[in-house]
Amino acid sequence: MEIQEIKQRFGIIGNSPLLNRAIDIANQVAPTDISVLITGESGSGKEVFSHIIHQMSPRKHGPFIAVNCGAIPEGTIDSELFGHEKGAYTGAIGERKGYFETVNGGTIFLDEIAEMPLGTQARLLRVLESGQYIKVGSSKVEKTNVRVIAATNVDVYDAVKSGKFREDLYYRLNTVPLRIPPLRDRKEDIYLLFRKFTADFTAKYRSPPIQMNEEAQQMLVNYSWPGNVRQLKNIAEQLAVLERDHMITAQSLLQYIPQESSGNNLPMRINQQKKDDFSERDILYKVLFDMKRDMTDLKKLVVDIIENGGVPANYSGNPQVLNQLYRDIEVDGDRHHNHLHQNHQQEPTLTIQQPVVQNNNKELNITHEAQEVEESLSLMEKESDLIKKALKKHKGKRKFAAQELGISERTLYRKIKELNL
Ligand SMILES: Nc1ncnc2c1ncn2[C@@H]1O[C@H](COP(=O)(O)OP(=O)(O)O)[C@@H](O)[C@H]1O
Ligand SMILES: [Mg+2]
Repeated sequence: MEIQEIKQRFGIIGNSPLLNRAIDIANQVAPTDISVLITGESGSGKEVFSHIIHQMSPRKHGPFIAVNCGAIPEGTIDSELFGHEKGAYTGAIGERKGYFETVNGGTIFLDEIAEMPLGTQARLLRVLESGQYIKVGSSKVEKTNVRVIAATNVDVYDAVKSGKFREDLYYRLNTVPLRIPPLRDRKEDIYLLFRKFTADFTAKYRSPPIQMNEEAQQMLVNYSWPGNVRQLKNIAEQLAVLERDHMITAQSLLQYIPQESSGNNLPMRINQQKKDDFSERDILYKVLFDMKRDMTDLKKLVVDIIENGGVPANYSGNPQVLNQLYRDIEVDGDRHHNHLHQNHQQEPTLTIQQPVVQNNNKELNITHEAQEVEESLSLMEKESDLIKKALKKHKGKRKFAAQELGISERTLYRKIKELNL
């Protein structure tokens, strides 16, 4: 089959030489029974390639199973793969068929192969060499005909050197190595993939089409994508769901791309035809990154101050920021009631609210103002979350829920209406 046809059939996006080379190898090795070791970073497409190989092999009508060796406890992996006899170990009530029995005539994909225990490696080597295996707790030799495709995101040869992986098995599996390039090594595919994913997700969620300005495209392409295609797909989905503004700018993209501590994802232009433009843009990005970092520092600091009543000893930031912050907090502290919303999984969010004045004679017009360090959208979400939690905790009793939230019953009542709870 032609490479383009394969891409079409399996929904593979991209046209970089490294990707095409990988597809070419998969295409050639598919019709054979040779074991394949697929290497590549997490999210780069290893599992996709295992499907391609199976589907283009004469075993395509046979079973296919993907097993994550890193996710099965060491004590049960032998029994999962090779089955066990009745009473093979404590708790083994009945007998069990292993994958090498159920997948007979098909393909087994062994993901995270470097995590496989040494004992299991010995059994696997035997199956690969002779098609023979023995169930746990049995002495009878069984036969099977299974093709093995293994995958790893670490260097298995390192495991060989440190004695954690059998060298003979390594060579046996690695007859045909198939390397899936990380996304950062096929930059020309990034925007293509992004467009495909956003088109799919906006159709799925019926949201308006997503467009991206030139700066944001550059940022997308020059990011290092540690989570590869999976991460890109994820971000496309988030944008399709969350982004109100469907022209994505560099600034809005920054909220979705995690910042790397080394800072090596600072966008750099590949082609520097427009020199002036380049430096200007670069500075802009730098400013944006710095702003985001400052914002995060500031949030942490504020939370620390509120929680501990003092500046953390290790604070190394700008003293001016600190002083300003102190002034703000002192001013607010007199007048306002500081309230820290802390949600178990979410980042702490600080809201500063008006005091709740108890006055029985007058109807007070209490305005609830919330100053948010984050975007207001997430504040609303968190607010409504907190309110729901408080109501649930106090079994719907508004008075107690309001007390817990540090707001008046009236405010709570209004919020419930506003947020449609
Ligand atoms: N070239 C590609 N074109 C389109 N989607 C891809 C491509 N490569 C990977 N994907 C998608 O990215 C995600 C991660 O791929 P997967 O094969 O699970 O990665 P890995 O097994 O290396 O962690 C999947 O949703 C897969 O469909
Ligand atoms: Mg995977």
